[in-house]
Amino acid sequence: MAAVDWLMILHPFLAVVLVYPLIGVVVRLAVQTRARRVQKVKLPPTVGRDHSDLGSWLAAGVVVLVLIALFVVIATKTPFAEFEGGVARAMQLLLVLCGTSVSLLALWRCKLPILRLAFSLITWAGVLGLGAQPEVWRLSDNPFTPAFWQSHYWAGVGVTGLMLFSLGARAEIFRDIRIRRLHVTANVLAALLFLTQGLTGTRDLLEIPLSWQKSTIYQCDFDAMTCPSDSN
Ligand code: HEM
Ligand code: HEM
Repeated sequence: MAAVDWLMILHPFLAVVLVYPLIGVVVRLAVQTRARRVQKVKLPPTVGRDHSDLGSWLAAGVVVLVLIALFVVIATKTPFAEFEGGVARAMQLLLVLCGTSVSLLALWRCKLPILRLAFSLITWAGVLGLGAQPEVWRLSDNPFTPAFWQSHYWAGVGVTGLMLFSLGARAEIFRDIRIRRLHVTANVLAALLFLTQGLTGTRDLLEIPLSWQKSTIYQCDFDAMTCPSDSN
């Protein structure tokens, strides 16, 4: 495999090795937190705090994972000499990447509700801004087509938004029963989206050819599922 292929599998590798195991632990602690509070099951009082702490790492981890995927997709689509918009656009996109990372860091650290709201939105806007670039494969942008609902991109940025909501509203989830209910509903959806990401991610991994295979594979017609040699 060439260096660029190793770069391409950085995102799936981190998802499998870091993010999915963390999802398992966070969901397990979530079930225990609820069982302790609602059914008064005898469990250590630390389960809620542990869920929240590891949940924060999960939320930040998902944002970083998505930023890595977007960076790799945009940076490796064409050789640098053919990069659309040249150095000026590359610099602009790097600035957005840095700004989004700084905003995530600020969201992690700040306490004031209005700042947490602002930094969650800025971080999500950064992810969406990078995702809107033409280099990013989004399957379909039309929610009225089945392809949109099978898109690894749209479910990915959707679940990132849900994670940012939990990270930003951490203090309120502890304090306010209505926000906690909203959190549970949002994160049942997030858990389902994580499941679909596992499926669509492995599908994409199967479909994307290695760098040295691209020139041949991309001669195939992906809709008709035929390759030039088929018609011989
Ligand atoms: C797949 C992801 C997640 C699921 C399924 C989930 C689910 C839950 C559930 C079921 C509860 C218990 C609610 C209750 O007692 O009625 C809970 C509590 C909570 N969650 Fe999550 N959650 C997830 C991710 C997160 C993340 C990413 C964060 C924060 C960054 C977070 C922060 C909290 C907090 C602060 C509480 C309150 C804990 C307490 O009352 O002691 N959760 N969550
Ligand atoms: C936490 C779960 C995940 C999220 C939120 C997520 C999100 C994303 C996003 C936003 C992109 C960029 C858009 C695109 O090219 O489609 C992407 C790319 C990609 N993802 Fe995921 N993903 C997740 C898990 C996975 C898993 C488990 C795999 C495979 C095992 C995977 C494989 C890929 C592949 C092959 C790409 C294309 C480009 C690249 O390798 O960087 N993803 N992902």
